[in-house]
Amino acid sequence: MKVLVCGGAGYIGSNMTAMLAREGHHPIVYDNLSKGHKAAIADKELVVGDLSDFDLLVKTLEKYEIEAVMHFAAFIEVGESVAEPLRYYKNNFCATHNLLTAMETAGVRKFIFSSTAAVYGIPEIFPITENSPTKPINPYGQTKLAVEDMCHHQSITGKLNFAALRYFNACGAGNNGTLGEDHRPESHLIPLIIQAAMGKREDIKIFGTDYPTPDGTCVRDYIHIEDLCRAHLLALKQLDNKREIICNLGNEKGHSVRDVIETVKRISGKDFKVTETDKRPGDPPVLTASAKKAKDELGWRVEKPDLEEIIETAWKWHSENPNGYPD
Ligand code: UFG
Repeated sequence: MKVLVCGGAGYIGSNMTAMLAREGHHPIVYDNLSKGHKAAIADKELVVGDLSDFDLLVKTLEKYEIEAVMHFAAFIEVGESVAEPLRYYKNNFCATHNLLTAMETAGVRKFIFSSTAAVYGIPEIFPITENSPTKPINPYGQTKLAVEDMCHHQSITGKLNFAALRYFNACGAGNNGTLGEDHRPESHLIPLIIQAAMGKREDIKIFGTDYPTPDGTCVRDYIHIEDLCRAHLLALKQLDNKREIICNLGNEKGHSVRDVIETVKRISGKDFKVTETDKRPGDPPVLTASAKKAKDELGWRVEKPDLEEIIETAWKWHSENPNGYPD
């Protein structure tokens, strides 16, 4: 299938692009390279463009006879979204509206959207199912939920079949360990801890130690990038005859910030400074998934459920690429 991968040069997008190619699909990357890395897509076809460029989008969809669109091009930092909500609404919501309009114009019906656990806000019952109330507590989660709603309404017209996949915490390196996490600036826990272990930053900061969790630090559900991407392929197969798929993608296990730090220390064999600081705005105490729906409806199976094994892939990638991607 010819698939347009918006944000295909980013962390999740590049892993998805590589997996699509490995599985015999034809991915075309559409990326403005504001966050992504050209080196992460190797020899894959690339259209450098912005999602705000309606004409280029329509032209690209038509030229490559695109059959499905996967959309990973979004801003992803909770704290930043609290500080700069308008940027988030513009980039995450308005740009997706433009993309869906271009798809309607070009007659492309299949759409896979990167949604997030942040749509649930501060859940009260665990594990979180897709029926849990959606009450985002930050603009990031709200913009993702608004896109899900827009897709839902568009799908009712019969012009869109979509999957909104609600990611928990994607991590690790995929494509045989060659595609890792390199955000600039880095804000994600695992790469930051690894940088501390490599001596590239003076410490790792724990954002809040009095959360209502067993060790007082936030608990998250860490899912390996390859497992996450594989669910997209399964969803893609079902979009021929399903109008709407909404699934959590998580490992169904919670790990605290302290657990993750200790795991990196064990794997790397390095000790480093850990500093306890204030909470980060917009962080829910616990996010752990029920992935039953993805398992039942998509036939999804998690192949790398073990945090040690996941972090080993990340540690290896960072050790082999101490300066990240070369661009
Ligand atoms: N954290 C620290 N210190 C740091 C960085 C993070 O203590 O230096 C903590 C955070 O407070 C949070 C946890 O580590 O409790 C994980 O933080 P990340 O920034 O790695 O990830 P988030 O849980 O904030 O968000 C990620 C993605 C989102 C996605 C969300 C879903 O960035 O896009 O997972 O759970 F929506």
